[in-house]
Amino acid sequence: MGVNAASALSLGEGSTPLVPARRLQERFGVELHLKCDGLNPTGSFKDRGMVVAVERAAEAGARAVVCASTGNTAASAAAYAARAGLEAIVLTPAGATATAKRAQARAAGARLLEVKGSFDDALRLCRELGQREGFVLVNSLNPDRIEGQKTVVVEILEQLGTAPGLIALPFGGGGNVSAVAAGLAEAGASSRIVVGQAAERATTWASAIRIGEPAHAAHVAELVADGGVEVVTLGEDELRRAWQLLSHEEGVFCEPASAAGIAALEHLPDLEGTTVVCIVTGHGLKDAGAVDDGESQTVEATLEAVLEAIG
Ligand code: F0G
Repeated sequence: MGVNAASALSLGEGSTPLVPARRLQERFGVELHLKCDGLNPTGSFKDRGMVVAVERAAEAGARAVVCASTGNTAASAAAYAARAGLEAIVLTPAGATATAKRAQARAAGARLLEVKGSFDDALRLCRELGQREGFVLVNSLNPDRIEGQKTVVVEILEQLGTAPGLIALPFGGGGNVSAVAAGLAEAGASSRIVVGQAAERATTWASAIRIGEPAHAAHVAELVADGGVEVVTLGEDELRRAWQLLSHEEGVFCEPASAAGIAALEHLPDLEGTTVVCIVTGHGLKDAGAVDDGESQTVEATLEAVLEAIG
């Protein structure tokens, strides 16, 4: 789709479904659509920009791409680097990322280093590494990432046939909201943008957005000052509830951070009648450990036992 289709590295990123949320929308009195970006090739929105960043790194003669990651950027960088025949070096905060995401990076042959520190420490190290000959930083500080991520806006406008009244999404480092704002400006559309961030940034249960100091904080502050973006700060219970609602009411199983846009809606008064698009950024299978398995029940292999159990 769009700028990515021509890339020799493409895995088919973009063109993700826009799904009407018929049950959930009644709760908010809006027309609600879910942009299911967890259906990208490596299971998160990162692929949209990563295909562009890795292709340009390869064209520039890079030896390796480097990134700091809470998991999804790592999985995406590893996949595209593999296709490009480049080395991928990924730094993650030790013990703080979902198992499946680390597995994805390692399966694609990335050098995965768990840093004894936070995501912010890992990013600081990667910025330094990226200065070295032959290394290209593919975090969203790389403008090629933002360029590719803008495609989500083009798709939303095409699929809806018009600009939505509001687009809601999570706010971790702020790369994605920067891309959405730029994409809307380019399209001449003026949808309201609302982002949800964890109040407990450095320790949140939603590990994908466990980021103390957003890399794009200054730019997001500018967007807020200009009136283009509103930031909603969310408690842990609010994040968890929105994540459960998406699965329970719409069958859309996403990872915890991905429900932050939905959680943010609960804070907004006067949404009645608005057309809202929530960008659901990552697949639920990325972080299956977030689901409490405590309720699954073992029964004898008889119909009697099954009937008794289901009540
Ligand atoms: N949702 C998911 C599933 C993410 O993985 C991230 C960021 C975000 C939302 C926040 O997006 O940083 O552009 O504001 N994940 C990064 C990573 C930090 O390393 O995978 P943002």
